[in-house]
Amino acid sequence: MSPLTECFYLSFFLVIVVRQGLCSPRRAGSEAWDYVEVRPGAHMFWWLYYADSPSAQYKDLPLVMWLQGGPGGSGTGFGNFEEIGPLDRDLQPRKNSWVQAASVLFVDNPVGTGFSYTEKSDRFATNVSTVASDMLVLLQHFFTAKPEFQSIPFYIFSESYGGKMAAAIAMELTKAAAQGSVKCRFAGVALGDSWISPLDSVMTWGPYLYSTSLLDDYGLSDVTSAAEKVKQAVEKEDFLKATELWSMTETVVEQDTNGVNFYNILTQQPDEKLTSAEGENFIALQARRHVRPLNRQSLSELMNGPIRRKLAVVPENVTWGGQAEAVFSYMAGDFMKPVVDVVDQLLAAGVNVTVYNGQLDLIVDTMGQERWVNQLKWEGLPTFSKLRWTSLDDPASPGVTGAFVKTYKNFAFYWILRAGHMVPSDQGPMALQMLKMITQQD
Ligand SMILES: *[C@@H]1O[C@H](CO)[C@@H](O)[C@H](O)[C@H]1NC(C)=O
Ligand SMILES: *[C@@H]1O[C@H](CO)[C@@H](O)[C@H](O)[C@H]1NC(C)=O
Ligand SMILES: *[C@@H]1O[C@H](CO)[C@@H](O)[C@H](O)[C@H]1NC(C)=O
Repeated sequence: MSPLTECFYLSFFLVIVVRQGLCSPRRAGSEAWDYVEVRPGAHMFWWLYYADSPSAQYKDLPLVMWLQGGPGGSGTGFGNFEEIGPLDRDLQPRKNSWVQAASVLFVDNPVGTGFSYTEKSDRFATNVSTVASDMLVLLQHFFTAKPEFQSIPFYIFSESYGGKMAAAIAMELTKAAAQGSVKCRFAGVALGDSWISPLDSVMTWGPYLYSTSLLDDYGLSDVTSAAEKVKQAVEKEDFLKATELWSMTETVVEQDTNGVNFYNILTQQPDEKLTSAEGENFIALQARRHVRPLNRQSLSELMNGPIRRKLAVVPENVTWGGQAEAVFSYMAGDFMKPVVDVVDQLLAAGVNVTVYNGQLDLIVDTMGQERWVNQLKWEGLPTFSKLRWTSLDDPASPGVTGAFVKTYKNFAFYWILRAGHMVPSDQGPMALQMLKMITQQD
């Protein structure tokens, strides 16, 4: 063979090697991300991590979509780097990452959250039905772009306000999957510390704080009367007023408990001064309380620095978190609306529904969750209520109880001990174990 022919064959061979590399099945640790324009001028960002397990292929593991709360909290930022993604905020490997048991899809929703953005202010969602229809557009694009996931069991996991959105999204997805307009194998929804019945949360704050030595008799009386006003507004369906009174109730709680942290009663809130705008405007105040902690400076520097450079698709004038507080404000009239009826519709449709709740969470305390669960019209409720729970060992400390669980038909409830609002951040091994149980790997 002449050197020239040899060179020709060699380069031909190299081309094949390179092409094979590109087309071969996904390597462990693969990722993908993109934007979808869900409505004109409304752009949503998703970020997928293929499962990275030493013992299984991603095709044999479920796909989990994670929805953050707020509204205005970013799944690709907070959920990914502070809770369940493969790397932590210092870009070090996370020991209990969910990626070892599932492919994980983070979506910045509603539009305007995280790297998602609107071009015009009239494109923000103002209610959960818009949030759900936007997500359906995104999922339709996602399962078309990644057809390898169409036959993999697909679960939605959520936290806080993310649970309220997850319930509505799960209902729309159930219909769309049945009609074939979204090609996926929808397998269930998990509602973590979820804002399903805001009033039941607010009404149980007093008793919960009183029984854990965080209110005296005066405090209990103050919190109870503030909560009663919220109740009256919700009963009148004056939901914007209810949001304002909810904010006032939180102020009463802060004063009477000397600043208990709403996300974990064993800790205190950082002592931050209100700006005058926040002091006067209850929506700005609530955004500071419930959106800013998810968009902390350190996380923002990571997302707007190295992560944005890595992704290389974020438009120049879009800042991660830049529209987060606007997302919250536009949803203010929706905030206090319950979606218990949607959970009932899911159960009646045969969807697997899991509720999980951290023992130390105040904002969505476990007592409040049990109150709305007990109001379900679900036909399995009487039997569920009669069952005893089962204890689960904490995988990190065998012999120590980490959770209790109760399951009947298509409904399960996990009581997660020693966790606050952000269950996977507080109890990583237990949360990972729960993920495996819900997705039937254990
Ligand atoms: C970014 O700039 C483009 C072009 O000027 C504009 O159309 C778009 O609305 C801007 N986007 C945002 C989020 O401000
Ligand atoms: C939700 O908001 C959209 C857009 O503002 C509106 O058209 C729709 O009627 C609202 N849906 C509900 C159920 O309130
Ligand atoms: C719901 O969970 C049960 C196990 O508890 C499982 O047998 C069933 O297949 C699940 N349903 C769907 C739709 O995945």
